Amino acid sequence: MLLLNPGPVTLSERVRKSLLQTDLCHREPEFFDLQDEARTRLLATYALDPEVWSAVLMTGSGTAAVESMIAGLVPEGGRLLIIENGVYGERIAQIARQYRIDHEVVKYEWMQAPDVDAIIGKLDGFSHVAIIHHETTTGRLNQIDRLSAACKERGIGLLLDGVSSFGAEPIDFDGGGIAAVAATANKCLHGVPGAAFVIVRRDALARAASRTYYLDISRLAKLQDARNTPFTPSVHAYYALVEALREFEDEGGLIARHAHYLALADQVGSGLAALGIEGALPDGESSVVLRAYRLPAGVSYPVLHDALKAQGFVIYAGQGGLSNELFRISTMGALRSTDIDRLIQAIARVLR
Ligand SMILES: Cc1ncc(COP(=O)(O)O)c(C=O)c1O
Repeated sequence: MLLLNPGPVTLSERVRKSLLQTDLCHREPEFFDLQDEARTRLLATYALDPEVWSAVLMTGSGTAAVESMIAGLVPEGGRLLIIENGVYGERIAQIARQYRIDHEVVKYEWMQAPDVDAIIGKLDGFSHVAIIHHETTTGRLNQIDRLSAACKERGIGLLLDGVSSFGAEPIDFDGGGIAAVAATANKCLHGVPGAAFVIVRRDALARAASRTYYLDISRLAKLQDARNTPFTPSVHAYYALVEALREFEDEGGLIARHAHYLALADQVGSGLAALGIEGALPDGESSVVLRAYRLPAGVSYPVLHDALKAQGFVIYAGQGGLSNELFRISTMGALRSTDIDRLIQAIARVLR
């Protein structure tokens, strides 16, 4: 079965086998070696300076990392501007409400790109801005560089949900105002679910609030810097994350992964176009990680999904109100061009 949903991903055999390593107590030095390697390799993914940046690991899914980032990095008395153009932006607004963080939401339709100039015009009075990098709801890659530069000019911290872009899309960590990026092991890095992380500027950690217990980012960072951990981590997910990061490096790192995803996504797009299926967003606005397509006339999502699943492919529905119009194909995970050929042939059979 090949997974074409946006994580968990189809694993490589190398990562799958890494789950079968020796049992490990999380209070032994071997575990801290593993934790150190994961943290070092996460920073190396974007060639980040460990004096400036810290990779803070936690046990949980991507939402745990996003929650830890939002609840921790907007200091007491801070004010957060949230940019929303999909489900994951809405989730950040919900997190801010739940922690009673002073915030305002700028909302766009799910199919719309945020209006960066209008947002920049609103920045005064905010200490932080939160935005989704790749809004997986529609496959849109939100353009963050001008916003990030404007944040830097004003001393505002940009909090980025990079859950479905980290490891595959370029992120300019040092050029703009990024204070932190939240992400997870089981998407573009090709690990398994259970390990998530926030890449955070050390100076932002120094000003962090302590609104949450389990996800308290500054405590996690402090203990991990001291080769320690407050709780029982998902040891096996860490094994897989480290192996996935070694594999990532061996395969050529970020540039190679981006190029690989781009080639697969373009192959899906042209294969579907030949069958009369159109992309949902204009060309050039989607990520390389996932793209949304319009359901062909007369074919409902459940019919398409079930017929493809019977042939060994799991595709993904449109979210919420988009479920009757769209379906999504992610090309993250251990997938090859021959897999995409087979997928297109399978879709052609369904349409026939
Ligand atoms: C952009 C984005 N943010 C957050 C999440 C939530 O991640 P998780 O389901 O791992 O908690 C997802 C999941 O797909 C996502 O795509």
